[in-house]
Amino acid sequence: MSLLARRRPATALVLCAAALALTGSAVAAPERPAPAAAAALPYQDPSLPVQDRVTDLLARMSLDDKLGQMTQIEKDALVPQSDLATYRIGSVLSGGDSTVSPNNAQTWADTYDSLQRTALTTPLGIPMIYGIDAVHGHNAVRGATLFPHNIGLGATRDPALVERVGRAVAEEVSGTGIDWDFAPCLCVARNDRWGRTYESYGETAELPSSMTTFVTGLQGETLGAGPASVLATAKHYLGDGGTTGGVDQGNTEVSEAELRAIHLPPFKEAVRRGVGSVMLSYSSWNGVKSHANKYLVTDVLKGELGFTGFVVSDWAAVDQLDGQTGFTGAEISTAVNAGIDMVMVPHDYKKFLSLLRGEVTAGRIAQARIDDANRRILTKKFQLGLFERPLTDRSYTGTVGSAAHRQLARQAVRESQVLLKNDGGILPLAKSAKLFVAGKSADDIGNQSGGWTVGWQGRSGQVTDGTTILQGIRAAVTDPSRVTFDRYGNGIDGSYTAAVAVVGETPYAEGKGDRPGSIGLDQEDLQTLARLKASGVPVVVVLVSGRPLDIAAQLPDWRALLAAWLPGTEGAGVSDVLFGDHAPTGKLPMTWMRSASQEPINTGDGKDPLFPYGFGLTYDGTQPTPEPTPTPTPTPTPTPTPTPTPAACTATFKTASSWQGGYQAEVTVKNTGTGALTGWAVDWDLAGSTITSLWNGTLTTSGGRATVRNASFNGSLAPGATASFGFTANGTAGTPALRCTGS
Ligand code: GLC
Repeated sequence: MSLLARRRPATALVLCAAALALTGSAVAAPERPAPAAAAALPYQDPSLPVQDRVTDLLARMSLDDKLGQMTQIEKDALVPQSDLATYRIGSVLSGGDSTVSPNNAQTWADTYDSLQRTALTTPLGIPMIYGIDAVHGHNAVRGATLFPHNIGLGATRDPALVERVGRAVAEEVSGTGIDWDFAPCLCVARNDRWGRTYESYGETAELPSSMTTFVTGLQGETLGAGPASVLATAKHYLGDGGTTGGVDQGNTEVSEAELRAIHLPPFKEAVRRGVGSVMLSYSSWNGVKSHANKYLVTDVLKGELGFTGFVVSDWAAVDQLDGQTGFTGAEISTAVNAGIDMVMVPHDYKKFLSLLRGEVTAGRIAQARIDDANRRILTKKFQLGLFERPLTDRSYTGTVGSAAHRQLARQAVRESQVLLKNDGGILPLAKSAKLFVAGKSADDIGNQSGGWTVGWQGRSGQVTDGTTILQGIRAAVTDPSRVTFDRYGNGIDGSYTAAVAVVGETPYAEGKGDRPGSIGLDQEDLQTLARLKASGVPVVVVLVSGRPLDIAAQLPDWRALLAAWLPGTEGAGVSDVLFGDHAPTGKLPMTWMRSASQEPINTGDGKDPLFPYGFGLTYDGTQPTPEPTPTPTPTPTPTPTPTPTPAACTATFKTASSWQGGYQAEVTVKNTGTGALTGWAVDWDLAGSTITSLWNGTLTTSGGRATVRNASFNGSLAPGATASFGFTANGTAGTPALRCTGS
């Protein structure tokens, strides 16, 4: 039982004693605060620097106020709603299956405002912050614009587009009042068996790092400075995509050098961009749960990377620390002392607050740690403007599912398409063609949207509003009556120009999507494809999936293959590519296995894929250029073909990260000659530092100089192509003069 004596705004020096039994039977919530004072208290004065406001507010907060700010609960667990104020809870979330009824933007906004008004009844009137997984649009809201999942956005290689997507998502999220998005996932998916592969922008450190533009899209250049600014979340820290066997929430068994080289860079870039929160991963690194890893969370993330936002746990992740169900005071201490600032409980908040208070009063969690966590959380609330603008900005509610956002999503779908095969140039299809469309995902908005769609796992069927791929096809052709659809391929005959089979995966999320066994097509798809093949009509396959699938055995029967990934609500973006209104420019964000037995298979690992990372065709049979095709210019007078310069290359050094006494570097080798390289070597003066680990190359050292030669898989470089290697070293990086020798 703890008696709370509150200091109230200066104009009403009324001590409000509210008995608050953290054992669960709260007495009445404190009466409404006195009318706002004419002269605001410092923390209520937006003209003051944020840190001054935080300091003033912290000084006024009781221990229970502070513990409440570190508590995040599921909206549906808040019973009665007044508990939000009674227990001083600082954050609410909607988990994957949390919804409102009716499910529309207006109802979400009304729900948010009602909760916020309750939060503001506390003596200090600290607004709550509301989080949700808007991971490919505001996907909890029926009718919202759904963009391609991250694997498709990675295929675009268009960070500027992804920033625009983030901005659109921020507008739709803001229109429902919500101010915190548990996105982007900056996971680096290394094994396609992982059920969250589609939440990853790609298998290399570089691609997810480049797509942290989504953070800027959500937050704006500066958090809270512009309209519709939504707090972003870099997740899941650290190494969730690198678990052994691709097991969700599994164990990432790699050296620190590899963890730093592959999984850390996207978070470093997100921190550089000012990401306001980081969510930890359920997974472990070499057997230590991320939620208990003080070295990674406090020393590396907050210390070395300088992250000044706040760290939030994943859903009930603290419960996992001792391997037993439920949570204990010891687990809470371990998590908070590791550096977690806010715990996504998400249900039993009374028990959590009671245990947390017990850990603090017992001295197992220092007051300084509590204050640091509060400072981090309150700083974001002030920067977001929640104290000044706590309720929904209804001017954005109408952006939910807007035509402008759907056009942007359609562009993102176009750019995400990766053309993997196009025998005889069967694509693009003529709009006058007689077409037979088949497959379970041709006319299914749920399948094309995937998981995290109006429900955690998503589902097949009419799950929300949008355009299916079939609807896109029918809208594109000159005569829709020449398009026949049968899901199973029944009724096809030899009279058709081509058959378009839209096949692949049905929706899933997280561990339910793990594929430890086969990663091939299901029986329905195989039977449908067999029917189409038997007709003798050329088959174009559109693969709707959250990952590369094991399709090498079927590929010879297909004239063309288009990887559509999980495009979301704007299926017309797929037909734009099928009919050539947009030539495909997408490039594989993941290496495509030749067989599931190759998993994990990633660029640079020396294995022989069906399609390599970065592969993608366009309509003249070449690899697409990342830039849009320039407008045609008059044929230039022929210039004499230049005599090829000897095999030439350059090497560019970049310090990827540094720490006390060591650093990690990345070197990019570029073929600057006019002929192909079959190999390269880079050498430089180590200046006293010693290389402790190296990848994507072979190292020799002599006389204080290092020489790195290409690995077996990255020696051949076409003119202009690049390869990279990385290493960690003791000492300081400096800016070594690299010499590149091509052969
Ligand atoms: C889930 C996911 C995480 C999500 C959180 C809240 O389990 O791991 O990505 O943000 O819970 O829904």
